Amino acid sequence: MKGSFVDLLRNLLVFIHLLGFASLFGGAFVQVRDDVKVVNAAMLYGALVQVLSGLLLVGVIEGQDAPVDNVKVAVKLAVALVIAVLCWVNRRKEGIPGGLFGAIWLLTTANVGVAVFW
Ligand code: HEM
Repeated sequence: MKGSFVDLLRNLLVFIHLLGFASLFGGAFVQVRDDVKVVNAAMLYGALVQVLSGLLLVGVIEGQDAPVDNVKVAVKLAVALVIAVLCWVNRRKEGIPGGLFGAIWLLTTANVGVAVFW
């Protein structure tokens, strides 16, 4: 009984984690052809959701006594924190440089790569 509740919690967190990723990635993707790029709400909240849901996931998985790859998680956390800080400090800007926009997108994609291939 206890086990099934923790399983449900983990699935719920993965669900939220994937919606957060969709929001962050999608918020950037819709602007790819725009001349002026911004950190929109989808990107900002997506980035924050990724950090929070990722940390909670690690806690739940460790609570299940399942193995967590600490190096992989540390890399994901570091990358996600950089993305979140970049989104946070630029959230009110009316335009951000293309390089900064590209960096946010590249780091997001890199973290999916780490999640899937590591
Ligand atoms: C931009 C940031 C992030 C992106 C794009 C991202 C992406 C993903 C994706 C696509 C998955 C599902 C595939 C898989 O299970 O391997 C996943 C799972 C996971 N992520 Fe992230 N992630 C991010 C940030 C984080 C952070 C900051 C942490 C932890 C501090 C984290 C911890 C995890 C864990 C533990 C799983 C496995 C869930 C499970 O097996 O039940 N992620 N992530």
